[in-house]
Amino acid sequence: MNKDHIIIANWKMKLGINETIELAKKIKDKFKKIDKGEVVVCPNFVALMEVKKILNGGKIKLGGQTVFWENRGAYTGEISPDILAEAGCEYVIIGHSERRKYVLENYEMIHKKVKTVLGIDNLIPIVCVGEDAKERKTDRRDFVLVDQLQEAFGGLNILKNQQVIVAYEPIWAIGSGVAIEPSEAEYAHKIVRLALNDIFGMQTVDNNFRIIYGGSIDTKNVENFVDLENLDGVLVGGGSLDIDNFYKIAQAIIG
Ligand code: 13P
Repeated sequence: MNKDHIIIANWKMKLGINETIELAKKIKDKFKKIDKGEVVVCPNFVALMEVKKILNGGKIKLGGQTVFWENRGAYTGEISPDILAEAGCEYVIIGHSERRKYVLENYEMIHKKVKTVLGIDNLIPIVCVGEDAKERKTDRRDFVLVDQLQEAFGGLNILKNQQVIVAYEPIWAIGSGVAIEPSEAEYAHKIVRLALNDIFGMQTVDNNFRIIYGGSIDTKNVENFVDLENLDGVLVGGGSLDIDNFYKIAQAIIG
């Protein structure tokens, strides 16, 4: 099972089509020097096919920013797991806090998405969990994480060769410019691991899961995260929009 460190760029809705194409070209070129780990970029849907052409089956992988829970049907505006796979995506983000907040994705929807994606060969779910500022202040983080993981994964099976990524993204750290303290991330990642152990058993979690961090990772703070025991990579928003910054962050994580 692939346990390489991974860096995932979530470009959100921050780049237009041409801007996305420009950045993808720069990444393709600059990352030629990196031969370890895994690099994934998640463009907007409209730019996916163009980015696929640019990456051209190379070592930089493609991911979707969200997905629907059915594969075909009358679901206007939605994109299914198998359409994403057909478009060249090997990864897909599920349950990002911005989707929970702005389009009201709830536990049930997220569970159904995870379940459908797990049924598609070669499409790896990146399931986001994390507490908000109030939950953190009132010491409810651990409960929130366990609850979100149980709701997302409870009752599902992980096949022997299936890979899954859980991204711990404390909501208060996203886009704030201030990342979590690395020691706190390590603690939260342990909670995530224990909760997953409860659901799937330790062996499956050790073999099939990677746990990554997201929230204001930048060129300066990334160094403090690289040696954490329970960190298999990072999910980067703002820090992935500039080629030099993204390259520096990637070098620290996988270089
Ligand atoms: P920022 O790196 O901009 O804080 O965003 C993190 C994130 O939400 C990645 O999915």
